[in-house]
Parts: sequence; structure tokens; C-alpha cells
Amino acid sequence: MAEKIFITGASSGIGESLAYYYAQKHATVGIAARRIERLQSVARKCNDLGGNSVVYHLDVSDQDNCKKAAEDFLSVTGGIDIVIANAGIGGEDNISSGDPSAINDILKINILGVTNTVIPFIPIMEKQGSGKIGIISSIASFRGLPDHGGYSSSKAALRFIADSWEHKLVRHKITITTILPGWIASEMTAKHEFKMAFLMDSDKAAIKIANAIQRGKRKLILPWQWNFIVPIFRLLPRQLIRALTPYKESTKK
Ligand SMILES: NC(=O)c1ccc[n+]([C@@H]2O[C@H](COP(=O)([O-])OP(=O)(O)OC[C@H]3O[C@@H](n4cnc5c(N)ncnc54)[C@H](OP(=O)(O)O)[C@@H]3O)[C@@H](O)[C@H]2O)c1
Repeated sequence: MAEKIFITGASSGIGESLAYYYAQKHATVGIAARRIERLQSVARKCNDLGGNSVVYHLDVSDQDNCKKAAEDFLSVTGGIDIVIANAGIGGEDNISSGDPSAINDILKINILGVTNTVIPFIPIMEKQGSGKIGIISSIASFRGLPDHGGYSSSKAALRFIADSWEHKLVRHKITITTILPGWIASEMTAKHEFKMAFLMDSDKAAIKIANAIQRGKRKLILPWQWNFIVPIFRLLPRQLIRALTPYKESTKK
């Protein structure tokens, strides 16, 4: 039977590549994001690839609409195999501005956007006695990166949420996989002017992410080289983090 997969942030980057990956396997993919025209174009390509797509014009920070989207998807498909909470934003905290809006948006979308996406599917997964959850964190979750406290802490929160939920979900045969990407080529990274170590293509990343979720792995760091770098990164002296971080001092006031 065709798999039923719900993916947020499917209008570009990793989420878009994941949608195509599952469409090629003839899955029914619920694809959600805010840019509706982009989603419609992704949906057309999914259908051309042999999948069946259902489009959700959705801001993941909107709890009620996330619940409605999950209910609609379940009414169309009758169940859920995989939910991937991928939507997220980056950006600087901009603390010198005196305005907390920038960091608050990051925290809201990257943390509450994930809980809003995943939790509506949990009762049905428990009832089914099956289900797979993928949560996109980041290797940035291992240290508070200069000017990116919102991003790093939001992605660290996701690691802890998944770690905690797994204790309960395992009793219902539901797996939860935390994905910790390094640099992946996407709209988010396209604006970086510095050289990104081990930059990976998003289609290649999608295959690795989908395989890890399929196997119910608890954690995936990718590209693989970061498995060796992360333990060192966690111990680096603060001065070295400052010196090595390729971000410029924010000029926004
Ligand atoms: N690329 C990397 O190197 C990298 C590394 C580590 C982690 N990640 C994580 O990977 C995930 C995907 O990012 P990406 O690299 O593929 O970047 P991307 O191309 O910018 O994709 C981000 C996706 O999230 C969606 N999104 C953002 N805010 C949303 C909201 N409020 N509601 C619904 N959808 C929203 C965007 O769609 P709309 O704008 O249309 O809503 C877009 O589809 C993010 O969580 C990111 O933090 C990326």
C-alpha cells in the first residue's frame, strides 16, 4: 500500500527534496509551507514522479491550522506512516536592536512549529501502533553560535524534545529520528558567502534522511564527516568558536 507522509517546509530545500523522494516511491505526500505557488509547483512535480500530493498552505507557528491540516490529511489518507517536521528558519538574534522579534520568530517557528506539526498525529499513531517521526535539528544545536542563540537553542530544544518523547513513543512502536545536518545546499545556505565545509546536495541529504527515518534510527548526523567534528566542536574553547565562526558582526540596529 502507498505510504502516507506529511512534510512541513516542503516548498524548498530539504523538504522539497524529501517530497520528491517519497513521490518517486508512489507515496501520498502532504506538503506544507507558506509559499503556496512554490508548493503547487512541488505538488505538480510530485504527481509527475508518480506520487499523490496534498497541498497545505500553512504557517507551522499556527497551532489551530496545524491541527486542521493533520485532520484533513488523515481524512484523505486514513492514516499516517511518517511525519517530518522540517520547516525552520535561520537568522541572527539581532539583540543590539532592543527588539526581540527576530529571535522570538526563530524560537516560535523552529520549536513550536515542530510541536504543532507532530503532536496532532500522535494519537492516531498510538492507535495504529505504528508511525515514524523525523525532526530536523542541526549540528548548530551543539554550541551557542555567535549571534545565533535563537537558532542554536531552538535546534538544541528539538534534540531534547525527541530524546524525551522517545521514552513514551517506543511503547507504542513509534520511532523518532533526530536529524542533525551540517551544511546542506538550500535557500537557507545560498546566502552564505563563506565556504561551507562538506556542503551536501539536498537530494542526497533527503535519501539519507529518509533511510534513517525508515530504519528508526534515533539520530543521524550528516554529512558523515561531522560525526568526527561534532565531539571536537563541543569541546572547543569559546575564543576559538568566536574566531572560527564565519558570521560577521550584525550591523542591524
Ligand atoms: N541547509 C542547511 O545547511 C541546514 C542545516 C541544518 C539544519 N537545517 C534545517 O533544515 C530545515 C530545512 O531547511 P532548508 O535548509 O531546506 O532551508 P529552506 O530551503 O529555507 O527551507 C525551509 C522551509 O521551511 C519552510 N518554512 C519556514 N518557516 C515556515 C513557517 N512558519 N511555516 C511553514 N513553513 C515554513 C519554508 O517554506 P515557506 O517559506 O514557503 O513557508 C521552506 O519550505 C530547517 O529546519 C533548517 O533549520 C538546514
